[in-house]
Amino acid sequence: MSKVEIHGYAIVSDNDCIADASGLTPDVLRNDADWAYFQAELNKSAVTVLGRLGHEANPNPKGRLRMILSSSSTGLERRMDGWWWSPERMSWADAIRTILPEGGRVAVPGGRQVFDLFLGIGYDAFHLTRAEGTVIPNGVPVFSGCGDDTRAEAILSTHGLRPNPRQILDPVGPVSLTIWRNGRQDS
Ligand SMILES: NC(=O)c1ccc[n+]([C@@H]2O[C@H](COP(=O)([O-])OP(=O)(O)OC[C@H]3O[C@@H](n4cnc5c(N)ncnc54)[C@H](OP(=O)(O)O)[C@@H]3O)[C@@H](O)[C@H]2O)c1
Repeated sequence: MSKVEIHGYAIVSDNDCIADASGLTPDVLRNDADWAYFQAELNKSAVTVLGRLGHEANPNPKGRLRMILSSSSTGLERRMDGWWWSPERMSWADAIRTILPEGGRVAVPGGRQVFDLFLGIGYDAFHLTRAEGTVIPNGVPVFSGCGDDTRAEAILSTHGLRPNPRQILDPVGPVSLTIWRNGRQDS
């Protein structure tokens, strides 16, 4: 199969959360510069992989190709709104070979179970945006392994990713971006 490149995208608080205690995205994680960066990255991607809740919560006005994780899928099914995939019933390799036979870039914007799954499959890059100075009490962490003693950075590092220099997306906050890349790559 041609090369498939997997890129994860998350904006997190200082305590590594992607959502609040009720599972919703709080305003402190909404930032125009991050949104513009994320949209530009989606434009470079051949398919966007997301959990069912995120799929249902986020309209798809540009009609981008989506792959939706759900236990309701019989394996891999083409429905009106995208490819529905159950990783328990079909392997990633078989599913993505069907969706992108020519290869291409895969964008993974979560949520948490999806981020966890792709730690095992293997990210080529993880674009970690941080809304610095924000804390979300009892929120949903980007990876289930995050905790008081384990930061998202440590989990990415454990999975073979290495950080590029921190960039500032928005000086207010600031909101920063660190792209973590698979250590086997040159860039
Ligand atoms: N800050 C950020 O960067 C960021 C990123 C992503 C999401 N969010 C926020 O987080 C919230 C949604 O995320 P979430 O984690 O609650 O839900 P989610 O990942 O969007 O959806 C969860 C659902 O996806 C399906 N799913 C996920 N992993 C699966 C697996 N391995 N096998 C089968 N099905 C699987 C299941 O659907 P079924 O119930 O159909 O089986 C599960 O109930 C939203 O508020 C969203 O805006 C924030």
